[in-house]
Amino acid sequence: MEGEIRLGKKALAENQQRHRTNGFRNSKELVVRRGAPFNISCFYLLLFFTFSSSGRLYAVMPVTFSEKHPSTRWNAYINPSTMNLQELSVTVSSPASAPVGCYKFQLYVFTQDGQKSFVVGDFILLCNPWCSEDAVYIPFEDQREEYVLSDSGLLFMGTPNNLVSRPWSFDLYEPGILEACLDLLKVSPQHQKNRKKDYMNRSNPVYISRVVSAMINSEDDCGVLKGNWTGDFKQGVSPSKWTGSGDILRLWVKSGYSPVKYGQCWVFAAVMCTVMRVLGIPSRVITNFNSAHDTNANLVIEEYYSETGQKLNRSNDSIWNFHVWVECWMRRSDLEPKMDGWQVLDPTPQERSGGVFCCGPAPVKGIRNQRTDLIYDIPFVYAAVNADVHTIILSSHDQVVGFSKDTERIGSLICTKAIGYPRVQNITGDYKWIKKLKVNSLRKTSQFTLVFFIFLATASKGVIVFLTLAKHPVAGEPIVCLVKIMNKQKIPKMMKVHLNAQAKEYNHSPSETFWEKHGVIQLAPMEVKVIEEHILPTQYEHVVGDDLINLAVVLEDMATSERVLASEEFNIATSGLTIQVTEENSIVSNKELTASVTFTNPFSHPVSGLLTVAGAGLIGDKEQFRMPSLRPGGKATQSITLKPSMAGVKMLQASLSLSDTNITIRSFKMISVNSI
Ligand SMILES: *[C@@H]1O[C@H](CO)[C@@H](O)[C@H](O)[C@H]1NC(C)=O
Ligand SMILES: *[C@@H]1O[C@H](CO)[C@@H](O)[C@H](O)[C@H]1NC(C)=O
Ligand SMILES: *[C@@H]1O[C@H](CO)[C@@H](O)[C@H](O)[C@H]1NC(C)=O
Ligand SMILES: *[C@@H]1O[C@H](CO)[C@@H](O)[C@H](O)[C@H]1NC(C)=O
Ligand SMILES: *[C@@H]1O[C@H](CO)[C@@H](O)[C@H](O)[C@H]1NC(C)=O
Ligand SMILES: *[C@@H]1O[C@H](CO)[C@@H](O)[C@H](O)[C@H]1NC(C)=O
Repeated sequence: MEGEIRLGKKALAENQQRHRTNGFRNSKELVVRRGAPFNISCFYLLLFFTFSSSGRLYAVMPVTFSEKHPSTRWNAYINPSTMNLQELSVTVSSPASAPVGCYKFQLYVFTQDGQKSFVVGDFILLCNPWCSEDAVYIPFEDQREEYVLSDSGLLFMGTPNNLVSRPWSFDLYEPGILEACLDLLKVSPQHQKNRKKDYMNRSNPVYISRVVSAMINSEDDCGVLKGNWTGDFKQGVSPSKWTGSGDILRLWVKSGYSPVKYGQCWVFAAVMCTVMRVLGIPSRVITNFNSAHDTNANLVIEEYYSETGQKLNRSNDSIWNFHVWVECWMRRSDLEPKMDGWQVLDPTPQERSGGVFCCGPAPVKGIRNQRTDLIYDIPFVYAAVNADVHTIILSSHDQVVGFSKDTERIGSLICTKAIGYPRVQNITGDYKWIKKLKVNSLRKTSQFTLVFFIFLATASKGVIVFLTLAKHPVAGEPIVCLVKIMNKQKIPKMMKVHLNAQAKEYNHSPSETFWEKHGVIQLAPMEVKVIEEHILPTQYEHVVGDDLINLAVVLEDMATSERVLASEEFNIATSGLTIQVTEENSIVSNKELTASVTFTNPFSHPVSGLLTVAGAGLIGDKEQFRMPSLRPGGKATQSITLKPSMAGVKMLQASLSLSDTNITIRSFKMISVNSI
């Protein structure tokens, strides 16, 4: 007696097309979404299906002739019109709340001799954002295309005034990724501790997302990524060198689930986004600019400056120039219905939640309404986007000689990639009730039309100071800073002026001062003066790349010793790398095409480096090329052959790591691949 379930290539492709899982073309098993029917055909009469995961949990369903497939339970149906002597066509449907994971088909055949069972193949069941009964249902097709199906995206970094869009390959459909994401659920402590309970709970995206948030970092478990913020990455890969999630997840599986070195916030978040999209849970990567890490939970972050404008390393609280987390879309059946929708999940290990390093799901609507009573972790995320900053100037004897308060800086921009376009979407208003900014009224009175950004301005009784940049800083050009000083009083003033620039990493205190200027100016009664200073490329070139600059000005009224400070942090954009593609409008899958990457050296010195080209669905594995030394202004071009493996909008990315520096220059191009 033999049984067989046959699922030819065509039937597999048809099922996966209807379930929007056709991207997983490399999977040996059928991949379908819960809450919707799929077809199999089999020899011999089939009376029961048993769906089991490692034999511990199963659903038995009699095969019926009723075409109804209620989304609340498993169901198998034979269409009598397709019945013939050899073959049966059976439609199987799963409940919209079925646990996600790997299932085994088991066939039971009853004969006079008794019962025989055969294991006849596996299938993989994912969440279904297209099914309105599924807790991850999201209503619009363009949302599902972006947040579930898209295998590339942009991560935003830098500063709000000079956003850096970093390309990222989510690599959902690359070989081994689906399997790695399912492995992640299997090696989780929850699964190891109690398989049955874990399988049951996997019906719930709240549970799944919390498990994944803990498993992305390697604290407390054999999670995917080890964090390292030391700046020394010799024992692994520097977080800024990764181009996508695929390499990381494959390395993790290959090493027998030992943590991959190294991650920082955007790497943790991007890998989590991959896992959630693979599991069928809508997910997007979020950047919070000027993110507060409020260790003592008083909603105040202190920062300290010296009398001459050097930022000091004093506070235990910190402000990261940006912090990156993910949002996942789901119903919160454990909370009130108002809390459905986007949920913050932060896989970067920062604080323990329920004893382990994970964070969320925290409903974004709960954060906006300060519902710190709701689960999970709302107070932590609320502080990250809402704390106040107190800026304190200390004398050389540690006395406070100046103080100001800023309620706008933290969470000043919260953003994600727009749907369908490679650009930023501002979602600050989802997290915060937006107050009217005082800076706007000041900007109107500003007499400079050239001025792009107005940095923190502080005022004392006697003077107001503004620090501005004349344009977005770009590598190779001088940074032009303007200090505008207004004497508000009807008496002349003598002021000491101290300007100070320090390099800093996005989540560290600044390092030593690399540029400073000191002087004295005279102000007539009610006079307004503007000082222009240039920081030259040779003076700042070592901080180009992923580093930022903290620039501060401190004024001291020589008569009263009153001090005022203005400061800001900014990054320097790098350019020079461009990508071109031949016959851009006639690209089809499985047909080769040529792309070329051109680099023009924007620096005032010769550079060489390593060029990496990657693109999920466009090239199999990323390719690397050595770029020989190029003089200032010199140009080099590298051609690459691409072979798109699937239709859709794909992203080609290039990054050039310059030798002997920490600078990486990046570029990307969206490529539209048509099906044949
Ligand atoms: C997990 O399952 C248990 C029962 O097995 C249940 O009490 C618990 O609420 C579930 N947790 C989640 C997050 O679904
Ligand atoms: C970070 O990496 C360096 C060298 O690669 C290593 O010495 C250090 O221990 C690492 N830190 C952590 C927290 O793993
Ligand atoms: C920082 O933390 C340390 C140890 O927890 C504590 O002793 C110190 O007082 C704190 N400093 C400030 C400025 O809060
Ligand atoms: C982002 O949106 C908020 C609220 O809509 C707005 O106040 C803010 O100015 C926007 N920021 C940028 C950089 O567009
Ligand atoms: C700042 O101080 C902390 C300890 O208080 C130290 O761990 C950290 O390395 C310091 N950072 C810098 C940039 O000096
Ligand atoms: C790269 O960055 C690390 C940490 O910030 C620093 O110690 C090292 O000197 C830098 N290397 C170069 C060549 O700038």
